Amino acid sequence: MTDTSLWHPFADMHAVRGAEFVLERGEDVWVYDTAGRRYLDATASLWYSNIGHGRPEIAAAIVAQLGKLEAYGIFGNMTNAPARDLAARVASYAPMPAAKVFLTSGGGDSIDTAAKIARRYWHAKGQPERTHMISRTNSYHGTHGIGTGLAGIAANRDGFGEYVRESERVAHDDPAALRKEIERIGPEKVAAFFAEPVIGAGGVIPPAPGYLEQTAQIAKEYGVLFVADEVICGYGRLGRWFGIERFGVVPDLITFAKGVTSGYLPLGGVISSAEVAAPFWDEGGRVLRHGATYAGHPTCCAAALANLDVLENDNLIPRGEELEGPLHDALRSLAEHPAVAEVRGGTGLLAAVELHPDALAANPAAIAAVATHARNEGGVLLRTLNTSLAVSPPLTATEDHFTIIRQAFDGALDSLS
Ligand SMILES: Cc1ncc(COP(=O)(O)O)c(C=O)c1O
Repeated sequence: MTDTSLWHPFADMHAVRGAEFVLERGEDVWVYDTAGRRYLDATASLWYSNIGHGRPEIAAAIVAQLGKLEAYGIFGNMTNAPARDLAARVASYAPMPAAKVFLTSGGGDSIDTAAKIARRYWHAKGQPERTHMISRTNSYHGTHGIGTGLAGIAANRDGFGEYVRESERVAHDDPAALRKEIERIGPEKVAAFFAEPVIGAGGVIPPAPGYLEQTAQIAKEYGVLFVADEVICGYGRLGRWFGIERFGVVPDLITFAKGVTSGYLPLGGVISSAEVAAPFWDEGGRVLRHGATYAGHPTCCAAALANLDVLENDNLIPRGEELEGPLHDALRSLAEHPAVAEVRGGTGLLAAVELHPDALAANPAAIAAVATHARNEGGVLLRTLNTSLAVSPPLTATEDHFTIIRQAFDGALDSLS
């Protein structure tokens, strides 16, 4: 492979520059490299290909929209039919009644938008000192400015200087830690609490029993806005439109991206409760001075609408829950392997195999080695996390695919010794 000019995200370019892995096409749960070899996409790319790859109806919807109006901004009073329709449809799925939808270009953009809406809401409510934002250890909220500040994966914050001063982390599994932190900061200074229903990039960590319910209650007690980061958990990954619904929690804000288009085009958004939207919608003269050029991009919205059609028509949303047991069962006994510390999963169609500290000490490159072996020998693409390997296949996957994933893990883990 010749040298590259492409600077890859989350990559050691010194190692990657002569060793890129080039994909060429995809079909459902399969992707193909330039030599025509096929791989099982056990991670739905970066947790987003919920309907699988290569669906012609999405391509057709995109082409049709390109032929009408490829793009136009929606600042001020401008809009277009796909953006309006998408907002109405997403609002109709949301657990908050009469929700409003702010469209963005992706997940990190949505996090920054939610944080700014939260702060601006409190400003409008006459409590401008409510600026602090609390997130959880192991959390991942993207790599934009505010999301970097919120990062619960410390390595994603380190070395970038200070992002958001008023941002604190609490233990991801302890509701009492949230209460303590709100009390320490002073409730009158806290704007919002951010939580992924199942922590994704931080290791696939389902919530401790009662955690989301209790933290939602604590947030409510102190008037702190509860932001559900549904960038991974939304659009069927947990078997509902939004993962938080499984826990009976009605958040104030929801961030989404990924599965809303299954990645066919980039798009994200923030769903706001009617109450949080009220100062901006029900009172005149207040402008939320925020929004990206491609918010409401009609072609991206057309892709999203077509993707939502597939999720509905193929009845894919419940599969996140229907398949969570079978996926976990397929991987569970990997915990008996000496190189494995733990297998997490069972809440939604996602799981992680955590390597044993001894295996990582013996071979600091063990995570990458497992992924490379699984890809080259097992024909399976896994997602490397800090100390674990994640699995989150398209919602179209079947139990046969889980067997292939399991076999790839078996071979890859054995290769470590
Ligand atoms: C929970 C969560 N929030 C936010 C983001 C950021 O999304 P994006 O990469 O589209 O900016 C991600 C990305 O993986 C995510 O998993």
